[in-house]
Amino acid sequence: MGRYRETYERWKASPEAFWAEAAREIDWSKPWDRVLTLEGDLSRWFEGATCNTCWNALDRHVEGGRGEQLALIHDSAMTGKVKRFTYRELRDKVATFAGVLQRHGIGKGDRVILYMPMVPQAVVAMLACARLGAIHSVVFGGFAAKELATRIDDARPKLIVSASCGLEPGRAIAYKPLLDQAIELSEHKPEACIIVQRAELEAPLVPGRDFDWKDEMEKARAAGAAPACVPVAATDPLYVLYTSGTTGKPKGVVRDNGGHMVALKWSMKNVYGVDPGDVFWAASDVGWVVGHSYIVYGPLLHGCTTILFEGKPVGTPDAGTYWRVIADHGVKALFTAPTAFRAIKKEDPAAELVKKYDLSKFELLFLAGERGDPDTIQWAERALGVPVIDHWWQTESGWPMVANPMGLERLPVKYGSPTVAMPGYEIQVVDEAAKPVPANTTGAIVVKLPLPPGCLPTLWHNDEGFRNSYLADYPGYYKTADAGYLDEDGYLYVMSRTDDIINVAGHRLSTGGMEEVLAGHPDVAECAVIGVADALKGQVPVGFLVVNKGVNRPAEEIAKEAVALVRDKIGPVAAFKTALVVQRLPKTRSGKILRGTMRKIADGEAWSMPATIDDPVILEEIGEALSDAGYGRKG
Ligand code: COA
Ligand code: AMP
Repeated sequence: MGRYRETYERWKASPEAFWAEAAREIDWSKPWDRVLTLEGDLSRWFEGATCNTCWNALDRHVEGGRGEQLALIHDSAMTGKVKRFTYRELRDKVATFAGVLQRHGIGKGDRVILYMPMVPQAVVAMLACARLGAIHSVVFGGFAAKELATRIDDARPKLIVSASCGLEPGRAIAYKPLLDQAIELSEHKPEACIIVQRAELEAPLVPGRDFDWKDEMEKARAAGAAPACVPVAATDPLYVLYTSGTTGKPKGVVRDNGGHMVALKWSMKNVYGVDPGDVFWAASDVGWVVGHSYIVYGPLLHGCTTILFEGKPVGTPDAGTYWRVIADHGVKALFTAPTAFRAIKKEDPAAELVKKYDLSKFELLFLAGERGDPDTIQWAERALGVPVIDHWWQTESGWPMVANPMGLERLPVKYGSPTVAMPGYEIQVVDEAAKPVPANTTGAIVVKLPLPPGCLPTLWHNDEGFRNSYLADYPGYYKTADAGYLDEDGYLYVMSRTDDIINVAGHRLSTGGMEEVLAGHPDVAECAVIGVADALKGQVPVGFLVVNKGVNRPAEEIAKEAVALVRDKIGPVAAFKTALVVQRLPKTRSGKILRGTMRKIADGEAWSMPATIDDPVILEEIGEALSDAGYGRKG
């Protein structure tokens, strides 16, 4: 029996003993009373224990002799600057910013929203919240004011930390007007905002409400305000991260302190195969779960050096940037989304730029966030000469559910599969009656309850929403909302979503949310949004609009406004660039829009006429509109 199988069986035989053993890697202020507590269908890990995530990520390493090791390297391909922080320096900065927060009245359980670009202050602010037991909620910078406002109203933060601008290729994005607009739109108002002024584009501050990060840090330093880590319950929330759900309203995924640390620490060695002292780089954004788990918490809990990269895989300045970062900082393992590699491959198909850099320290590439297509994986293997590991997880799980566990054992790769279930996860594929289906049969991918440490215990202030979204459809299981199959060796194949979520450049977006926005256009009577296959981004949204009777304006004008509306209400991250005005939408006789068939037509896949269709001619019209817009057509 291999090490993977042995470990998985050990977990299965006694999950509580397995996680109690893993928990020995974490410093606890007080040990737990129970490893696992079940409250009906909700589970809590390490109840009774107290701990502090910031202590385990920073102070513990300083006390343990790692103080002079680099903890964080900020490499900005946008400004050409690199900043390095040792564990001691990062701990001190975090303690000072915790002092700033405290002076603004922030304490245990208070929420702090971070709307930040990829600057070191984002990491400092996250850890400072953790230090005080405050709950951070990071909102990705590519979201518009309205999305931020929705999150402000749900999380009800006492304070917001933001920056004057973010940097995208060729332009600075002013964040401050978006923040101001969001606060105007939201019902809940934060008491204060702390703003990082960036030299590229400074922002005017609102007197009495906005405070300058630098001034506040100086004041806290002068006052000697550097609070120690505050012990919190293992079950207390560390953060809330909003993610797209089946409706336009985002879900507030809650992460606890204790179980989260145990799971992430375990994954660093066993899944990612890295050791304390190694350099780990997750090329993602702190606004996504990958950023939370594997830019900030995982590597730091493990005593690694982590990289915060501000830039893109291409164009900043070229498709060799990733190799430059790996070489400059001695990266051992890189984690990114396949879309980044598709972008690089498009610019530099022969991987010529790889040859310019010394990648001798580079050992492993991990891909997740969307399906790892075999072409991209094989190209990366050839270009880099290292194992390329697809692995599958989601915001809700917080760490890999299915992977090739490089620290345990390198299992044979089957292209198109993220490999096998990690300890903690009994993955099954079931039919609509929650009955497991035979191997190689497609169905809903579910996880047997209870979920392991690190997974969401609930949604923010919404146990009922948690149950309805994840537990109600398949009793005894957690619904991942992905569909696929398991083969006879237990390898999982993730093929599609079962809800309205699409995956655009590794970003998770709700088509329902976009439809809500489009429906708000005064001339739009009806609309539908589908995700269409895209060679670079995996999927891109395409909208269909039916305009109100009597509207005589040119279709192009309305389509242009619709595109602008989605950008304004959801944000540029939605990558919504195509709206097609059509006469009518294809529906079943009971009025359900045939989005699945529309998608097949757009992707040029074989499709058959649904038996329940109201009027078959409409699909012809949709096919014509799509082919006029350059999308494939096959009958
Ligand atoms: N703040 C403001 N705007 C942002 C932003 C941010 N933090 N991040 C992205 N945007 C904007 C971009 O400028 C772009 O705007 P545009 O429509 O005016 O061009 C839009 O949002 C879409 O951005 P993005 O998805 O990054 O697409 P892109 O075309 O600029 O780049 C890739 C494509 C593949 C290079 C890019 O998606 C990428 O680097 N992906 C890496 C994978 C990744 O980060 N995955 C996250 C999960 S692991
Ligand atoms: P997010 O919550 O943003 O991380 O998105 C999670 C979703 O992305 C999953 O539910 C899948 O639909 C998709 N996803 C993530 N990783 C993979 C993968 N390796 N293979 C296939 N789909 C993936």
